[in-house]
Amino acid sequence: MAKVKSKYVCQNCGYETAGYLGKCPECGSWGSFVEEISDNSQIQNSLSNELKDIYPPQKLSEIEMGKEIRLSTNISEFDRVLGGGIVEGSLVLIAGDPGIGKSTILLQTSGELCKAGKSVLYISAEESASQVKLRAERLGVKSDNIYIYPQTNLELIKKHISELKPDLVIVDSIQAIYTSQIQSSAGSVSQIRECCNSLMGIAKSQNVSIVVIGHVTKEGNIAGPKVLEHMVDAVIQFEGDKYKSYRILRSIKNRFGNTSEVGIFEMGANGLREVINPSELFLKEYNQTQTPGSTIIVTNEGTRPLLVEIQALVGTTPYPAPRRIANGVDTGRVLQILAVLEKRIGLNLSKQDVYVNVIGGIDVNEPAADLGIALAIVTCVRDVVFDLQTAIVGEIGLSGEIRAVNHIEKRINEAQKLGFKRIIIPEANEVQGNFEGIEIVKVKRILEAITRGVKAVCDK
Ligand code: TYD
Ligand code: MG
Repeated sequence: MAKVKSKYVCQNCGYETAGYLGKCPECGSWGSFVEEISDNSQIQNSLSNELKDIYPPQKLSEIEMGKEIRLSTNISEFDRVLGGGIVEGSLVLIAGDPGIGKSTILLQTSGELCKAGKSVLYISAEESASQVKLRAERLGVKSDNIYIYPQTNLELIKKHISELKPDLVIVDSIQAIYTSQIQSSAGSVSQIRECCNSLMGIAKSQNVSIVVIGHVTKEGNIAGPKVLEHMVDAVIQFEGDKYKSYRILRSIKNRFGNTSEVGIFEMGANGLREVINPSELFLKEYNQTQTPGSTIIVTNEGTRPLLVEIQALVGTTPYPAPRRIANGVDTGRVLQILAVLEKRIGLNLSKQDVYVNVIGGIDVNEPAADLGIALAIVTCVRDVVFDLQTAIVGEIGLSGEIRAVNHIEKRINEAQKLGFKRIIIPEANEVQGNFEGIEIVKVKRILEAITRGVKAVCDK
């Protein structure tokens, strides 16, 4: 008789124990353990049957290099994030907040693929077939090659994948499907892990591409299972401000392409539209805002530079401890910049609240934004408007030095393309090539950057 075992699994990170624990020793979350019952022998059997000898050991010299075949989604922003399309036989996870547009982009992708003569099986585990049809009408997606299958049972899903042999399978969402081989409920870590494993087996053995959708939890983890990230070939994060229309697709893991590549979309009444020139979108409101405390930085997202506006607001605090609030940049980074400003140029903000905001709902994670943030804070404190025609890049070191950044030419090029007349960059960066129509101002230290930046304002 099969051995039925009970275990407690942390729903946050997937850590397993034999007994209940209040706090997870792995990820530190409280009250996250749930009892799950599994029939291990059956799982082992099913897995070994699926994966049996697909890839026997081979000599390296004898391995034939198959051509990597990619399915182009015909949505160039999506293709770029994927590294040139969905690789045949791969498993891709699209993760994002509920309501961000995951189902929309994949239905649009299905439509585009079918136009190119491919077939798609869309597993709709959360919505009925007519709900999907309604969305398809809205998006103008019409095709006889899209099969909508409202199903949550993995065994039935597998049966239809084998029968239909589609070019692409979309599972919307992984949290809603379950395998009957595990007794825990759909959405639990064990179910998600097992379903994902099983889908990976099908993708590899039947050479079918599968895209699974995963919802993100409040904490920002890919629901429950961070574990999913390790199993799939690529993880694409769909982010953005739900209250604004733009959406950002970001690749955070990709076995077949670049990571941290981004694609930008705008959500409209008829679905998602690609934004071909995102810097223009982010700067749309900039030329009208001539308030102190606003600067433009050139950030490098994946292989593409982006111009974004940074705003800072500094004011006397009514609280005993001043507040430091950062949106779109790391608060720790802002604290470090404030410490450098205080120590190196004597700007004391210990009685001031400081707010820093990146306009457009995009997250800027690279240190090259430091100098732009610092200058936004300084111009707000000094109540001067920073030159609207100047863009800024540079990392700030703890001794107040401006450190080199990567891809400097690409950044200068982007600023020039958008009509900026000047760019402040680190002295340490060597610039290859000639740039006409844009003045390159090289700075070594934070104070120099401020005086040169402010001089640019006064010269105007
Ligand atoms: P959806 O793709 O259902 O999100 P997810 O699958 O990530 O949960 O998108 C839902 C939101 O998008 C919803 O608020 C309505 C909006 N939307 C549009 O604005 N335009 C459209 O054409 C579509 C289909 C949806
Ligand atoms: Mg959805």
